[in-house]
Amino acid sequence: MHIIQTKDYNDMSRKAANIISAQVIMKPDCVLGLATGSTPLQTYACLIDAYKNGDLDFSKVSSINLDEYRGLSHENDQSYHYFMKTNFFDHINIHPENTHVPDGMEPDAQKACDDHNAIIRELGGIDLQLLGLGLNGHIGFNEPDEYFAKETHCVDLTESTIQANSRFFASIEEVPTQAYTMGIQNIMMAKKVLIIVNGEAKADIVAKVILGPVTPQVPASILQMHPDVTLVADEAALSVYNRLRKETNK
Ligand code: GLP
Repeated sequence: MHIIQTKDYNDMSRKAANIISAQVIMKPDCVLGLATGSTPLQTYACLIDAYKNGDLDFSKVSSINLDEYRGLSHENDQSYHYFMKTNFFDHINIHPENTHVPDGMEPDAQKACDDHNAIIRELGGIDLQLLGLGLNGHIGFNEPDEYFAKETHCVDLTESTIQANSRFFASIEEVPTQAYTMGIQNIMMAKKVLIIVNGEAKADIVAKVILGPVTPQVPASILQMHPDVTLVADEAALSVYNRLRKETNK
């Protein structure tokens, strides 16, 4: 795992955006795996700036998102469809038909998941997958579990995730309890993985992701086995990792 430590959130976002920019410049028709959450917001803002400056062209890019809440309409302002449109897609020249987010409104869970897997296959796989990190080590909505789920599936969200994500909803009762998410195999098959993390609240889990045993109880720990992972994290998020590394000389 290649670890890049940044000063703060803005520095993390600029560096992550630069890595994604390099991917788009090197392969204009690349497939970007995209993430939601608060962490990538500024990364998307930097990419929008680069597009507006004429440095990036998304006209041949395809995107595929990690996850979506089950049961939220595309127009719901808490859906990941809405998030991606308002925070990224509406501000760049990506073709809407080339963007893919799991369909939270598809009531047949198996169909929603099969369709998403089929799109990943049709696109020929993911060139670069952007990831955030949940407080409990989840990636996408792959929650701590007894095993690593393979492809897109329907998950019951854990109490800690519902609690963490309730900050975006009017009340905790409004947070959906299920989601459709790419599986660990979908993520691990991406050619490159870029994971971004900021803030002290995630320092313990980041240390486990990098140094701990590979276990489905910490889903992101599987990234230790991926041949091309870059973790861009600020000093606060890497504080526990840096302390443990000094103590153990790892
Ligand atoms: C959410 C998303 C993840 C995201 C994570 C962290 O539940 N499904 O894709 O990476 O939680 O969110 P945040 O960046 O807001 O901390």
